[in-house]
Amino acid sequence: MFRKSSILALDIGSYSIKTVVVEGTPKKPIMTKCNISTLPSHAIVDGEIMDRESVLDSIRNSLEALEVENKEVVSCISGRDIIVKKIKMPKMNESEAGEQIKWEAEQYIPYEIEDVSLDFQILNPNAGEDSMEVLLVAAKRDAVKARLSLFRELNLEPSILDIPAFSVQNIYEFNYPVEPDKLIGLFHIGSQYTTMSFISGSVNHFTRSVSTAVNNLIQALQREAGIDGERALSIIKTGEKEDVDQYAYQNAIESFHDDFGIAVERILPYLPEGFENFNRIVISGGGSLISGMPEFLGERFGAPVEVMNPFIQFGYNDKSPFININVEENGPILAPALGLTLRGL
Ligand SMILES: Nc1ncnc2c1ncn2[C@@H]1O[C@H](COP(=O)(O)OP(=O)(O)OP(=O)(O)O)[C@@H](O)[C@H]1O
Ligand SMILES: [Mg+2]
Repeated sequence: MFRKSSILALDIGSYSIKTVVVEGTPKKPIMTKCNISTLPSHAIVDGEIMDRESVLDSIRNSLEALEVENKEVVSCISGRDIIVKKIKMPKMNESEAGEQIKWEAEQYIPYEIEDVSLDFQILNPNAGEDSMEVLLVAAKRDAVKARLSLFRELNLEPSILDIPAFSVQNIYEFNYPVEPDKLIGLFHIGSQYTTMSFISGSVNHFTRSVSTAVNNLIQALQREAGIDGERALSIIKTGEKEDVDQYAYQNAIESFHDDFGIAVERILPYLPEGFENFNRIVISGGGSLISGMPEFLGERFGAPVEVMNPFIQFGYNDKSPFININVEENGPILAPALGLTLRGL
């Protein structure tokens, strides 16, 4: 019997929660429902949920408005509680590695190994004569537990808890050609975090989350132009800045560019062997929509810059009464949520 599968993804960000339902097959996914609901600014701080009720309410409202019937949910966890590192370990198959990873991880993780949940991906099974390269992911168990209990309270069954770096990479790979000999910088610029990865083909060479993100621009605007956070946010989103001092605005943008440029420069020493620069930079997240962002990055890093469009291959039902946002405009913001569904379908 043909069964139409459907998957619910929740991307809980500090600025907004993205709720997405996708139907179809892993090759032909179609977004049928979508909502983006903003949170009060204190609800999630440094990746930690401070106001649980606001977050629960926001998700409940979205699920209700979209008439979501799914029980299973795929989601991601980000922030300080996640460590991703490329490590070398002795050659072995995937299931052996699953058993060994705990012992290997011990030397790379600054926490007690009992306090973390571990996951891994074999990147290069032949990194040396007897060794392979593995991407190790460690998440603080408390953070994972807190996330799972949030979903259970909503009567949802979490089936996959991914990290944003992988969901962004997945949606990128789904939409863009695989180029094993090119180095792509994937920068997902959120409200509190920017996740940066270096990928070529389907290999993630390096990934790191930094706290230089749109919030830095909001703070710079507040400082330079003497306006409050609300006003700064609206200037960033609408580009309407006529009533603020143009000199102050320019200073804020430059200060943000400096911070962001430095954050990128810090990871350049980790460019994989054989690459001296990016062949292309692809940006996503709310920060990719800040006016002038592609131009700034292109100039500073001497590579073409593109704002990710996750809907090149990924479909959406434009007649659905449950899509109440402008899909094309918000594509870069939906990237992680859409990427998550690819693992769940
Ligand atoms: N059209 C737009 N133009 C410019 N900035 C925008 C636009 N839309 C949203 N933003 C900004 O992007 C930020 C939100 O981006 P995003 O939704 O990716 O973050 P988040 O996932 O909630 O946060 P994080 O993952 O860092 O916790 C907000 O600060 C918002 O002001
Ligand atoms: Mg986010």
